[in-house]
Amino acid sequence: MVYGRVAVAGPQDCVGATSRQGFAGNAGLPDALPPFGCGATTPAEHLRNVFTKKMGFNDQEIVALSGAHTVGRAFKERSGACPFGYGDASASKHTKSTCKVRKDNADGVGMAGGCPWTKNWLTFDNSYFSRYKDAMADDNLLWFPTDEALHTDPGFKPHFDKYAADQNAFFADYARAHKKLSELGAKFEPQGGVKI
Ligand code: HEM
Repeated sequence: MVYGRVAVAGPQDCVGATSRQGFAGNAGLPDALPPFGCGATTPAEHLRNVFTKKMGFNDQEIVALSGAHTVGRAFKERSGACPFGYGDASASKHTKSTCKVRKDNADGVGMAGGCPWTKNWLTFDNSYFSRYKDAMADDNLLWFPTDEALHTDPGFKPHFDKYAADQNAFFADYARAHKKLSELGAKFEPQGGVKI
């Protein structure tokens, strides 16, 4: 990674902002649920509108980047994309303060609440791909139409299946795609950024 990105002043400075008709309000980030702001009629078309047309990522990179959802969670108070919110009372069964999800098996989930994509949502591995059937079968795990498209669309599916079978391949491709995402369209100070 190259460090030293200059902060943008607002959404108008984000990659793709000049052509983001229909994306107003979220700086061109993808929509979790239809109707899609870009006018796409399928989740796969929406992902390619956002990640390929605006940002220049290919199918393989889109699938790799989506593996970021191995970690983290959604909140009804933030994206509103799920019914689970802040605190134990509104948490999914995987995000309560009593859940054991740390890799070292110690107590604690940080702030309780929200809903994750994977059961072990504090561990970065390939379970988003290898255990997606868990998510499809559990209404306390997320699986958006855009997640679904990754293992059904013919352009995405071979990469999804590869990452499900080969965690090292996922890690290698994820690292390359994340670096590209992180540096895309950014201005660096000093020029060229700081390489560590
Ligand atoms: C493929 C299209 C994508 C869609 C539809 C999508 C959608 C979402 C939504 C709805 C949330 C929940 C936000 C909230 O309620 O707080 C979320 C969280 C998250 N997304 Fe994505 N996202 C996408 C791609 C990505 C990419 C490319 C990355 C990074 C490379 C990423 C990383 C994350 C992470 C780490 C979280 C958890 C944040 C937290 O725990 O606070 N997502 N995403």
